[in-house]
Amino acid sequence: MTAALDEPLDIGGLTLQNRLYRAPLLECAGDDADAGERLAEELVPAARAGAGLVFQGATLVRGEGGAVAPNMTRIDTAEKAERLRAVTEAVHEAGGRIVVQLDHGGLRSLETWHREYRAAADREQLAVSPVPFHLRAAAKTGFLEYDAHVLSTAEVYELAADFGRAARRAVDVGYDGVHLSSANMGIVQQFCSPYYNRREDEFADGGRFLELVHDEIRERAGDVPLFTKVPTEEHRPPFVRTGLSTDDAVALAVRLAEYGYDALVPVHGSTFWDMSLIRGEYPRRGWAASQFQSGYEAAFGSRLRARLVAAATRVEAVRNPPARGWNADLCRRVRQRVDVPVLCEGGVRERGQIDRLLGNGGAPAAADAVGLGRPFYAEPELPARLLADAESAALCADCNNCIVPQATGAPGMCRTPSVLRERGELERAGAYDRD
Ligand SMILES: Cc1cc2nc3c(=O)[nH]c(=O)nc-3n(C[C@H](O)[C@H](O)[C@H](O)COP(=O)(O)O)c2cc1C
Ligand code: SF4
Repeated sequence: MTAALDEPLDIGGLTLQNRLYRAPLLECAGDDADAGERLAEELVPAARAGAGLVFQGATLVRGEGGAVAPNMTRIDTAEKAERLRAVTEAVHEAGGRIVVQLDHGGLRSLETWHREYRAAADREQLAVSPVPFHLRAAAKTGFLEYDAHVLSTAEVYELAADFGRAARRAVDVGYDGVHLSSANMGIVQQFCSPYYNRREDEFADGGRFLELVHDEIRERAGDVPLFTKVPTEEHRPPFVRTGLSTDDAVALAVRLAEYGYDALVPVHGSTFWDMSLIRGEYPRRGWAASQFQSGYEAAFGSRLRARLVAAATRVEAVRNPPARGWNADLCRRVRQRVDVPVLCEGGVRERGQIDRLLGNGGAPAAADAVGLGRPFYAEPELPARLLADAESAALCADCNNCIVPQATGAPGMCRTPSVLRERGELERAGAYDRD
């Protein structure tokens, strides 16, 4: 079945006005009294410009640890959740729908790699199983440090309950749905992954944790529309022998749809947080920006170390150059096997490409809705152009300059002047105006 971009879509009882969404992107909006206003500043333009759905990026279910970047938003208490009402109300007033993504970083947490957090905090990282060999080897170089706490069975239940409690709070303050950060090497992916998960209890079954999280959310937050990413680890480095294959991800997707998830976002990735998730160029300007040098030194330990991390990014960029629609085939395979909506993101840049992903162009549809991530940093009101003009394309140049400053807690935004200049010209020409 195919659909036009401006056709409404029902996801678990939530009606979206069209099939274009803003993919979850870290906002680094913190969790102080103004967090909701800061999030509104970032997310409302997308809603105002007509996005059918706006995902708020990874938001932590616990009050301590688990952050994958500095300054992340937490939703571990009713008080912090209440601060987020400002963004849900503002998005609704703008005519949009907003879904929060829940997360815990586990072995990807900040305390493993960020020098300042390592020094300041004596915090363990939650782990599904003992730290894998390659990460222990990397720790010997001094770039990573682990003080892992392997979750007991009872603690896994408690963690899942925290996802349920966070979902309840999210519903209470007006979010229209809950998304799970099950890719990007967060703890949910670590449960799913044969590389990380070497448990011997019931959670040795990779999909079991997502089933339990589903049950906890349903028990506490009722029939809130429930989304999850579904990861592969196909793009892991060659020296890592085990990982989620495409077949594994398709099987997991089928299982989760049958279990009660309302929508799936299949994404190719790796066993590690690398650039296979955000394919693009080496972020030359992002690394060179003078205002972030002291932040990089603080994060990585010294100027030399920051340079070595930059060199590793250069290698990653060669392995993962800019690409178009890199999750389309995976989404298409999943969509052929499940009855719930499939959402596709990753390197989507042109309106024609969006229409083809929705099945309007010959090939079978890959998705029921299509999302863009980084292009929203470049053009917060991008939907206005994409919805109005069948020939339009996003300005984002896949240069990834926006990514590196986030290691210092800087907000996510486009940091490439030529792209920003083009946006200014479009603004002046009224390209983002809507009737
Ligand atoms: C800076 C940055 C932050 C991201 N944060 C999240 C996140 O919080 N949760 C998530 O599931 N994906 C996250 N992603 C992945 C995006 O949702 C998206 O899948 C990816 O950027 C590919 O889409 P794009 O090519 O349109 O940017 C992030 C990507 C970037 C670049
Ligand atoms: S810096 Fe701007 S142009 Fe470059 S990837 Fe980020 S949003 Fe796109």
